[in-house]
Amino acid sequence: MISLHVNGKKRKVDAAPDTPLLWVLRDNLGITSVKYTCGIAECGVCTVLIDDEAVRSCSIPVADVRKGKIITIEGLPENHPVKIAWIEKQVPQCGYCQSGIMLQTIDFLSRRPNPSAKQVDEALDNVLCRCGSHPRIKKAVQLAAELSRK
Ligand code: FES
Ligand code: FES
Repeated sequence: MISLHVNGKKRKVDAAPDTPLLWVLRDNLGITSVKYTCGIAECGVCTVLIDDEAVRSCSIPVADVRKGKIITIEGLPENHPVKIAWIEKQVPQCGYCQSGIMLQTIDFLSRRPNPSAKQVDEALDNVLCRCGSHPRIKKAVQLAAELSRK
C-alpha cells in the first residue's frame, strides 16, 4: 500500500511503486479529470500540481510523490481565479485538455503574477489543445492574473 495526499485528503492505494501517478489517480482513485494522451511528458493534458508545481503525471512514478501534496482540478475551490476566468472566457471546446492547462496556468501565475503576452505564449507553448482553444486560453490566463492580483 502507498499513502498519498490528494486534494486535501490522505489516500491509500494498492499500486506498484513504479506505476505512473496518472494511472493511480485515474484507476485507483477515480479522478478521471486527469487525462492521458502522449504518455511521454510532451502534451501536458495529464498535468497535476504537486506542492504547487505543475508536474506531468504520466511520467512520474507514484512512489516518488508519496510526500507531496497532489492537487487535481477537483481540489480547487469554486472561486479560484483560474476557474472564474475559464468560465468567463468560455474557454473549453471538447474540454479534454483543459484541466491540465488550468493547473499549469496556476503554477505559471504563481511565478509570473503579471505576465506579458509573450510570457503567456511561451508558457502555453508546450501544452497541446487539439481543438485550438489557445486564443481563449490566453485571454483567460490574463484575466486570471488580473483577478489574482486583486
Ligand atoms: S499524457 Fe502526460 S504529458 Fe501527455
Ligand atoms: S478543448 Fe479540446 S483538446 Fe483542448
